[in-house]
Amino acid sequence: MAKKRVLRGRRNFLLGLGTFAGTGAVAIATTKRHQSNQMQALADNIRSFPVVENTPLRNRAAAKGLIYGAATQKYMLSSNREFATSFAQECAMLVPEDELKWRNLRPTPNSFDFTQSDWLARFARTHNMLFRGHTLVWHAKLPKWFKSTVNRQNAEQIMLKHITTVAGHYAGKIHSWDVVNEAVSPKDGRSDGLRNTPWLKFLGSDYIDIAFRTAAQADPKALLVYNDYSMEYDTPKDEAKRTAVLKLLERLKSKGTPVHALGIQAHLWGGETRFNALKLKAFLKNVADLGLKIMITELDVTDKKLANNVKVRDRLIAGIYKEFLSVVLDEPAVIAVLTWGLSDRYTWLTEKEPRKDGTPVRPLPLDELLKRKLAWNAIARAFDSAPVRRVKHGN
Ligand code: XIL
Repeated sequence: MAKKRVLRGRRNFLLGLGTFAGTGAVAIATTKRHQSNQMQALADNIRSFPVVENTPLRNRAAAKGLIYGAATQKYMLSSNREFATSFAQECAMLVPEDELKWRNLRPTPNSFDFTQSDWLARFARTHNMLFRGHTLVWHAKLPKWFKSTVNRQNAEQIMLKHITTVAGHYAGKIHSWDVVNEAVSPKDGRSDGLRNTPWLKFLGSDYIDIAFRTAAQADPKALLVYNDYSMEYDTPKDEAKRTAVLKLLERLKSKGTPVHALGIQAHLWGGETRFNALKLKAFLKNVADLGLKIMITELDVTDKKLANNVKVRDRLIAGIYKEFLSVVLDEPAVIAVLTWGLSDRYTWLTEKEPRKDGTPVRPLPLDELLKRKLAWNAIARAFDSAPVRRVKHGN
């Protein structure tokens, strides 16, 4: 039986490799790396990812004192009943993927439109899910009026009014807020590692501290999170990012800024071999030692560079989930795992990182038809073998 599976796997593996034949002499080194990745995945027969019982992810996570949830948008839930059912079944936390961004909340400099986000908050409440805020201060997805309206004189007042109004609107109803998103970018060349954003330009580096203090006042119950990406791999870029993020968190803590957690986006890359469990573990420990919680906030796996064969691809993706989550869940400070979407039917990667062969991307736990994939099994197994958290989290 096991032998049969391996043989079947080998056939899929070869089929998968067939897709590389057409790419010519493009990047032989890269192809070799993918090949060895695929071999590794197939050689490891644990990677059939068996799970016991059909228990949804939210219950498996909860059994360990963890939260599983996902990002989604109103139109997905309101236009697709099956998707809404799956979402409520699997997720204990809902994150509005776009609805709480400035572009959507702020039609004009003086108005707020909570229609879409309130709908999501209601959906979460109806289905006994926690609601999470993303995001109060970010350089992207700003409204069209921002550029012509915001300047050095009014920036602080505009930022404060936004935080006070939005965090105030959901006060007591939100588990956690990404107060500041993606504020670190070592490649921008500043000695403090901060990104050159409009907020930094207008307010100086203190804007981060001010944002957290304002959020704490507006919603004293919410867990306040600093959220960022590119901290997962053993690359010079990610190493620099980890160092700069740690420095920022240390600075904030030493000033008494009310920051409670680090959000690690975790947009992972299929085909990226530079994953270093020890380095990631050490980073998580450093963050935890600052007295911070950790949330995995936007987990997904880009399959742009993976084989065309769906079975091979799904197994590789599941392997990446497994590898990452086994390190992450070993750190007791980690309280939640959120994927950036639930089903391949709705994922930002369809547009952001489409495959060259034109086939649909498969980065998430459920497939386009809402069927559980090997990635789902990998996440389920990771929760099943995670150590129990002693403290009960959540609102
Ligand atoms: C993405 C959404 O998924 C898209 O729908 C939107 O068009 C652009 O933003 N990091 C973040 C998220 O913090 O807000 C981004 O979400 C993905 C990267």
